[in-house]
Amino acid sequence: MATQPPTHVPVLLQEVLDNLVLPPAARILDLTLGLGGHAEALLARCDKGARYLGVDRDPEARYLARRRLGDDARLEILACAYEDLWNDARFLAWKAESAPGGFDAILADLGVSTLQLRSPERGFSFRDEGPLDMRMDTTSGPTAVEWIAEQTDESLADAIYQYGEERASRPIARAILRAHREGRLATTKDLAEAVYTVIPREPAKRKGHSDPATRTFQAIRIAVNGELDRLAAALEAAAGHLRPGGRLAVISFHSLEDRIVKQTLRRLAGIYDGPGRTAPVTLPKLLKLIHPGGLAPSEAEAAANPPSRSARLRVAERLP
Ligand SMILES: C[S@@+](CC[C@H](N)C(=O)[O-])C[C@H]1O[C@@H](n2cnc3c(N)ncnc32)[C@H](O)[C@@H]1O
Repeated sequence: MATQPPTHVPVLLQEVLDNLVLPPAARILDLTLGLGGHAEALLARCDKGARYLGVDRDPEARYLARRRLGDDARLEILACAYEDLWNDARFLAWKAESAPGGFDAILADLGVSTLQLRSPERGFSFRDEGPLDMRMDTTSGPTAVEWIAEQTDESLADAIYQYGEERASRPIARAILRAHREGRLATTKDLAEAVYTVIPREPAKRKGHSDPATRTFQAIRIAVNGELDRLAAALEAAAGHLRPGGRLAVISFHSLEDRIVKQTLRRLAGIYDGPGRTAPVTLPKLLKLIHPGGLAPSEAEAAANPPSRSARLRVAERLP
């Protein structure tokens, strides 16, 4: 475990606090506990009768969240991926005992934490050299290099295109697999170098220009962790666990994620986004959208915490 963990500044914190309604003895489900930043602020607003279930699939995050939140008896931490939570016996038992009427608030702060990005040994970032791992759950599943080894030129290019929106996905995929065949793909720097053979890095990074490896790293991370695979189903399941009047708040960090969140919440609010939008389609309404366009960080937050810039918060309320 890291001795001096990097801090993770919770994004859109004020907006989350303003939009999640916390009655006395609130029941809160945090699907992405991370380092417990949102949890700490939410618990500070709750009374002694509250119960907070924090879920994360990263063992280091759970350890650090517990360390941060001390022995607060209101908090229970569960090791689980939120996609797998809904049929998990531990979750069902906790809910039956502590939140039989459903949750007042459910939070999903999607994506990676600063802890993960800034820990070279986790292999998420091209900024520091580390093993090419990228797993959020370090106890299971293939590492990034193992996942790459299973790909063909086509499947890797498709993933880089789909999850990284990278136009040069085909030559980049070929360069990565060539590096792998030649035994030159063990670290984050190796992966970045393979990308730079296709899109050279500018010597002095110009303001506003991201590193050419950014999109490829994002794509491989999303693929390795299956980040988008079951997001829509997980949000739908979460909505079903709200009590009437309870709210679901979801923070996304990139357009692919936000599109899924937006479409899912709109569908659950009875809004039809499919082809032929004018067709009269009636969908059952489970939710009401609170901010139909979503909320972005204030200028002050974006300036103080630049990684927050791309974040978007969407909130919906369970109908009676
Ligand atoms: C952006 S961070 C959350 C930060 C947290 N809100 C805070 O203020 O400290 C996202 C966290 O979600 C976790 N995570 C991502 N996908 C997950 C999944 N499918 N299931 C469970 N946890 C997940 C990551 O391990 C990471 O710790």
